[in-house]
This record gives sequence, C-alpha cells and structure tokens, in this order.
Amino acid sequence: MCGIVGYIGQRQAYDVLIKGLKRLEYRGYDSAGISLGGGNSRIYKCKGKVSDLEDQLAGQDVSGRIGMGHTRWATHGEPTDNNAHPHKSMNGRFVIIHNGIIENYSKLKTGLEAEGYKFESETDTEVLANLIEYVYLKNQNNGDSVSPEDAIRLALNMVEGAYGLVIMCSDIPKTLIAARKGSPLVIGIGSGEYFIASDATPIIEYTNSVIYLNDDDIAIINTDGLNLTNLKNVKQKPNIKKIDLKLDEIEKNGFDHYMLKEIYEQPRAIRDTYRGRLNFESKFLRLGGLHNVFDEIKDAKRIMIIACGTSWHAGLVGEYLFEEFTRIPTEVEYASEFRYRKPVINKGDIVIAISQSGETADTLAAIQLAKKAGAIVLGICNVVGASIPRETVAGVYTHAGPEIGVASTKAFTAQVTVLTMMAMAIGYANKGLSADEFTSLVDELYAIPEKIEKILEKAGCVKEIAGKIKDSSNSLYLGRGYLFPVALEGALKLKEISYIHAEGYPAAEMKHGPIALIDEKMPVIVLATKDHSYDKIVSNIQEVKARKGLIIAIVTEGDTTIKEMADYVIEVPHSDFALAPLLTVVPLQLLSYYIAVMRGCNVDQPRNLAKSVTVE
Ligand code: F6R
Repeated sequence: MCGIVGYIGQRQAYDVLIKGLKRLEYRGYDSAGISLGGGNSRIYKCKGKVSDLEDQLAGQDVSGRIGMGHTRWATHGEPTDNNAHPHKSMNGRFVIIHNGIIENYSKLKTGLEAEGYKFESETDTEVLANLIEYVYLKNQNNGDSVSPEDAIRLALNMVEGAYGLVIMCSDIPKTLIAARKGSPLVIGIGSGEYFIASDATPIIEYTNSVIYLNDDDIAIINTDGLNLTNLKNVKQKPNIKKIDLKLDEIEKNGFDHYMLKEIYEQPRAIRDTYRGRLNFESKFLRLGGLHNVFDEIKDAKRIMIIACGTSWHAGLVGEYLFEEFTRIPTEVEYASEFRYRKPVINKGDIVIAISQSGETADTLAAIQLAKKAGAIVLGICNVVGASIPRETVAGVYTHAGPEIGVASTKAFTAQVTVLTMMAMAIGYANKGLSADEFTSLVDELYAIPEKIEKILEKAGCVKEIAGKIKDSSNSLYLGRGYLFPVALEGALKLKEISYIHAEGYPAAEMKHGPIALIDEKMPVIVLATKDHSYDKIVSNIQEVKARKGLIIAIVTEGDTTIKEMADYVIEVPHSDFALAPLLTVVPLQLLSYYIAVMRGCNVDQPRNLAKSVTVE
C-alpha cells in the first residue's frame, strides 16, 4: 500500500518518478506527489491520480537530478491535497515519503506540539518528518554533532510501526536516504545512478541489479555510492541480486485493462508454474523448493494454511486437495484472525502461507507467530524476493508473472496449481494417492491450460450474460465441495470491481437462510459441473427456480439437464473434479470484468482498494 519511488543520477528525476509512480499506482491511488531537488526541495502534490499530478505540472519547471515520488492509499486522514505526500518538516529541513503506519504517531505528535511544532496534515508521516527534524535541531542546539543520518536513526528508534521511507534533507542536498521496517523497498543500482522503489517494476527499465532492503536497514545514497547500515549504525553488506523481469510483462500489450490481460494469461501462468516441476512424459513431479523439508511435510500430523482475500480462497481449495490426496488434517485460517487469537500450534506442524504480493502485513505477522511456536512455515508466493519468501524456511513460487490489476486472477489459478502439485507430491509419497491416481492427476493437470484456452474462446457468451445482469444490485454464488471456494472467489471478484453486493455460499446452506433473498431480480450463479454431488446441486437449482431466481449455471460441456432449467449456461470442459476450480473460476472472472466495464467502473483500480496490503 502506497507506492514509493526515488531517483538520484544524471537523468531528469521527474521522468523517472512519474513513470515509476504509474507502475506503482496499483498500490494506492488516493493522491500523488513528488519532490524535486535535494536542497530547497520543491514539492508538488494533489488529491487524485498520477495523471492529475502530471496535468497540474504541465508547463512547469520540473528539472532536477534528484527527487522522490509517492502514490497514496489513505490511512491517516482523508485523500486531500494536504494529506498527500511528500511531507516537509516545519522548518523545511526534511522532506519524506512513507509507506506503512507509525502506530505511536499520536503520542509523538502531542510531544512535538508541546515543543511548538505545528502540523499541516492529519498524517502520521508529517509527524515523522517533524520528529526527525526536532531530534536534529535539538542536538545541534545542544552543540552535539549529529548528522541528518544520525537524526533519522535516532528518530526511527523512537517509532513503533511499519515504514518504507525515502528522505531528503536540505543540509545534504545530494543525498537520498531510504529506510525500511515492515514495508518493502528495493534499490536499483545503475551506472552512477540509483533508483528506490516499493517494488522492482519502476526499476527494470534502467537496471536489473537490485538490493532488497531488510528490516531496520538504512541506505544513504549519493552519486558516489551507497552506504548500508542499520538502526544501530552497524554497517551491513549489500546483497546485490539480478532480477529477471521483462518490461512487456508489466505492460498492457493491447488489452484494455490489466485484469483482462491477466485473465487471458492464465494458460501461460499455469504452464510456467508447473514447467520444470511436473513432467508429463515420465509422470515425474518434483518441487525443488520443498526438498529440504519434504520428509517432515509428508509425515506431518497437521497442515495449517494462512492467507487473506483471494489467496485465502486458494487456501480453501488447498484444504480439499490436501485432505483428499494426503489424508493429513488441514485447516485454513484468515491470517488476520490467526495472529490475534491463541492458535494451538505444535512443533512440527506445517503452516503454509499463501500470498501473491508476499508483503501482506497480516500474513507476515501470522508467519512470525507460527515460526515462534515451532511450526515449519512454507510460502507460496508470486513476487520473487518479497518479504514472505524471505521469512519462510521453504516454499514454491507461482510463476504467474507480475499481477498489476488490483483484482487477483492469474495469481489465484497459479496458487491452486501449486497447491495441487504439493498435495499430489505429498499424497504420492505418503500413500494417500495410488500410483494410478497420481498418474491420472498428472495428465489432468497437464491438460488444464488448453481447457482454459477453450473457455476463453467463449468470452463473448459470458459478455452477453454480463449485459443481462449488469444492473442487479445483489447476487448469490453457490457451489459445493471444491467449487464452494470458487463461489466465494466469484462473489469477491464481482463486489470488488463492480460494487454489486455478492455473496458466496455452499449450495446446501442456501436453504438455511439466503433462500429468503431469492426473487426474480436476484441472479444466482451456480457452479454445477459434473462431480459426485451433481444430483444435489441440480436439486439446489430447482429450489432457486421455484422461487423465480435468475439462474446462471457453469456446467460441464454437453450437460443438457441443467440447460433446461437454467436461464443461461456457460460450459467448461470436463476435468477431474479436484481440478475443476481451475476451470470454473475463469468464466466468473470474465463475468465480473464485463459487468464492471459495462457499469463504467475502474476495473484495474477499484475504489478504496490497493494491491499490496502492507497495513493491518
Ligand atoms: C482480491 C485480492 C485480495 C488479495 C489479498 C491478499 O482480488 O486481490 O483479496 O488476495 O489482499 O493479497 P496477497 O495475496 O498479496 O497476500
């Protein structure tokens, strides 16, 4: 949440900052701002999007070879011009941008007010800017020689909470200072130039050499070099990594929206996720990232899956997969609930954290709790080098590629692919699956991308249905077994991008309450592919029909029974029912997408949301 970029070098900083902010806008789009020139910094900021800021700056002098920019997801204070970052300290010495939350800001603010500090915004960030300046000036007035870097370190030691920061000080005009605790920061190293960003996407155009800052790191950067220390002023060794991210992976490539591009990328994302791990010819499956702990996993007494949002839905599919294939008891928890109760975690329990971004604050905190209790914590993550893979002992990356649309699509199917492979590998090793069952699943999983391509060819039919229900104000999604989590995911997709109220339910639960909502105005989307509960879901459809609900059914190709009952059907190819989530979710993603577009919603940047949720 909140995107940060910084630049120092020979280029015009403005160009790097604006381009970088556009790449990071998925992290928040309540306001945007930049500061240029390290000495007497000029600050330009406004409520709204990066393009609003650009319009405002047209024709103005935006020259300068050092600067920083910010795109905000509001936490403290409404989205206004004043609350937009960067924030300048009261006497103008420090300018800062911030991602995260300063939890003790209120107490710090009261103390600063007592010292005569005045505030222009409601943000915790301005409090931090003033705290740093206060520490700096107070020490100077006392005759102590404290550098701006020292003042930053001293102030950060007084702060509770999370931050990714970039700071400029007028007394060291050719220096950028970056600091991290809890919120991600990456530094790109070019030739005589440095880039700072919340993730690597603003950087890859210029260099593929990066340093991922660790918690408590403070980087002091000028054109002569980079000095890495920590909060205790102990020198740190920069760990320079090469990133393998291509520019076209983060462009729209002819699609109207990132979300649509990412829906269409799913066959490729799934193939990339199983490539090198699953061999169709030799029926061989190996997850290298789990190698060191595989024996412990296969003998585990219990598996716990922790995640948030769409990743939690993938985790629910994982529960069905693990219990069926491995017979190991499996529980799925919202990371935010797990961390605040007293979960019973036994030494040797397996905890699997799932996260697209790898930065979700609640998931990270839950991982730390599980580690402390002696669990073996594994990660399933999409962003290489993010905090979650660095916090976990082992794991498997989803190779979905950068997901930029705020609504998660290809990350979900890639996560389910990884969970399927994990459950298959463990099940085969602990005899939960027979050799024949395993072989058949390899073939089935291998065929999934081609089947998704077939579904995508029928997008026009989904669009037509979208046109029929776009004006509804409520909708119900029903599924059983493996398709219950898909019902939840379908409902989440619809509400988050089209703002239509939607509920996902296990189909059999409908009669315990939600059935009261059904009338001719209520679209009911039923996941009804052929599996062992097919007859039951047919009965559920009858119950909806009897109450005049508008039925949209996702069915297996060639199904004629449901076709006769439903108002609309969307066909998907036949698959093993354990793999049906990978197919059935695709029409639901398309349905939400088309409805949101028809309603004129901003599909890639839905209101109030941000992609990477780095606050609790
Ligand atoms: C919904 C969505 C969110 C995320 C959730 C977790 O489309 O994208 O619900 O799934 O914020 O994010 P990650 O997976 O990055 O931990």
